[in-house]
Amino acid sequence: MKEIEILEKFERKLIPHQPEKSPIKPEIIGYGEISTIFKIKGLEGFAFKRLPLFKTKEEAEEYEKKYKMYTELLKEAGINLPEDKTFIVDVGRLPISLYIAQKELPSEAIGNKLLFKLSNDEIRELFKRIIREMKKVWNFNKEKKDEVELSIDGQLSNWALVDGKLLFIDTSTPLFKLKGKEQMDPEPLLKSAPGFLRWILKLFFLDDVMNRYYEERLVYIDFIANLYKEQRPDLIPMTLEIINGNLSDGLSPIERKEVDKYYKEDKMIWSLFLSFRKFDRFVKTKLLAKRYEFILPGKIKR
Ligand SMILES: Nc1ncnc2c1ncn2[C@@H]1O[C@H](COP(=O)(O)OP(=O)(O)O)[C@@H](O)[C@H]1O
Ligand SMILES: [Mg+2]
Repeated sequence: MKEIEILEKFERKLIPHQPEKSPIKPEIIGYGEISTIFKIKGLEGFAFKRLPLFKTKEEAEEYEKKYKMYTELLKEAGINLPEDKTFIVDVGRLPISLYIAQKELPSEAIGNKLLFKLSNDEIRELFKRIIREMKKVWNFNKEKKDEVELSIDGQLSNWALVDGKLLFIDTSTPLFKLKGKEQMDPEPLLKSAPGFLRWILKLFFLDDVMNRYYEERLVYIDFIANLYKEQRPDLIPMTLEIINGNLSDGLSPIERKEVDKYYKEDKMIWSLFLSFRKFDRFVKTKLLAKRYEFILPGKIKR
């Protein structure tokens, strides 16, 4: 069977609110704040992300096009990415899904897992290397002046160290600007949320989450604050020191209290968002006996 046929079969049979009960069971290998990463039998060697966001094929193609532009630009900036492929899966009902497949990487190679494998000295070296990678993006943006501006969500769980090479894996939200104009259309994402959720998405996602990954200082604060979530706040002083020693000219040093404040807010946003989505799933599947499209993350320790 061809890859697309396997994916169509998978999509047709998938029970997103109880993936473990699907006839073709996805094997879940990771969770992010928004999405779930899984493997599919018959398509070995790949990790999939499913974006069930689109009302038309054109909308899905548009997202796919932006995804490809974004990943090309990241590569042009010098960032290493895993091999990838995309598939638009339309099984004759809405929404249409875009599947983003990446070469599957060993789970122990992912940044946040390395925190529990490496010594503190090795972690210091790892962080320095990750910052060096992120700097490529800031430099690229400076070089391109107003032509191109790339965002990057550089938190630890978005990097993998494979055969000594750092790979950036979280490429599925293609936020970038051309001549100052944001290229990602947030509409599919907004529409995918129920009415009562849209306001938090608009309030936090559009103004805050969509902009934070363009700003060097905020990306670093996010990186540092994330060490709370990864259960290694003991590494924060060292990380502050490394990052403050590497800030671009003109930026003021990051202070611990900014990191703490940011983390409190961020934790609140994402916990709220996830609880609302779970509530929506409950209403749809249990009360209305309808389909719920998203495979939600389980409980996230923060
Ligand atoms: N190609 C991959 N191979 C192995 N694990 C992966 C791969 N891509 C993602 N993961 C796992 O899934 C997690 C979430 O993926 P990510 O792309 O960062 O999603 P999100 O956008 O929701 O943060 C990663 O931190 C990692 O643990
Ligand atoms: Mg991620």
